[in-house]
Amino acid sequence: MKNFLSVREVKQLPKNSEFTIMGVVSKFTRRKDRNDNPFWEMTVSDSSGDIDGKIWQASSWRNTQGGDNFPIDPDNCGLKFEGSSVKVEGIIAEFRDQVQYNFNGICYLDQTDYPPRMFARHSPVKSEILEDMFISLIAEISNKKLRDFVEAVFFRYGLWEKFRVWPAAVTLHHAYTGGLLEHSVSVAIGARDMARHYADFKIPVSTDLVIAGALLHDIGKLEAYTVNPTPQVTPQGCAIEHITLGYSMFMKCAEAENLDKDIATALGHILISHHGKLEYGSPVIPITPEAFIVNAADDADFKLSYWKSQIDALNSDTDFTDYLPAIDRRLWRGIRLS
Ligand SMILES: [Fe+2]
Ligand SMILES: [Fe+2]
Repeated sequence: MKNFLSVREVKQLPKNSEFTIMGVVSKFTRRKDRNDNPFWEMTVSDSSGDIDGKIWQASSWRNTQGGDNFPIDPDNCGLKFEGSSVKVEGIIAEFRDQVQYNFNGICYLDQTDYPPRMFARHSPVKSEILEDMFISLIAEISNKKLRDFVEAVFFRYGLWEKFRVWPAAVTLHHAYTGGLLEHSVSVAIGARDMARHYADFKIPVSTDLVIAGALLHDIGKLEAYTVNPTPQVTPQGCAIEHITLGYSMFMKCAEAENLDKDIATALGHILISHHGKLEYGSPVIPITPEAFIVNAADDADFKLSYWKSQIDALNSDTDFTDYLPAIDRRLWRGIRLS
């Protein structure tokens, strides 16, 4: 029997429970409290999720590399915790009515015996299935110039090898290997079906532009994130953000491929407006039917994926999450009709 729990199992335990987990450190920050005493915040990730813990000064730190087991000082041990595998013992506490995970014992594992990639999360949909769906969506673009352009962006400029394995975010949604491909395919299918629906209702919508825009909408994430082995934001992602990075990548390809200027403007507009609001990071808001649709499909895909990850982590006797600042609300499990 394994002597540690998954992150998801820990999140379902009642308060005051003790736990042991193994995973990769995806975030590690040293802080100081009001009295100038150091404490640390550590996020540990495994294939089931992420857990944010506090590490207070009295906690124990050990190194078990090479079969040894000796105490270490986290500030002077020369070890890089972020991106490394650890075993953590902790207890579930409560602070201001919210659950707080206190990590009391941190053990730096032998990175050869426990390679960090063994804890990496993957898309729940098989990569071959997503790749086939992506190729079929490109093939559905009936305008040859546009189809050739989308194909060129992914396959002539070398984006595909990264795109097929990249995460779509660091924490909020599809934050795992293959997440960007899964999210892009899902947005493209949702947006395509919405475009067909409105075309049937006599709104002039170009399904071709919607599919192309949806497949391309987050290409900037290839430069905004990196994988180490958990997703991390790059300096470019932090300073320029994926929408602007993506628009710049798109325009370079559009110029190199001599894409018709009107098509480049319509497609570029979908990319740059896909977050829907200036305060959500889009420099312009959607003003075409195609941009409305890609924005709506992107928003739905983010919310549904976020809802699932939060509800999966809920204790089975609870129906509501705590307040979630990322989405500015609590979430409800809802009902399931039999
Ligand atoms: Fe985006
Ligand atoms: Fe997106």
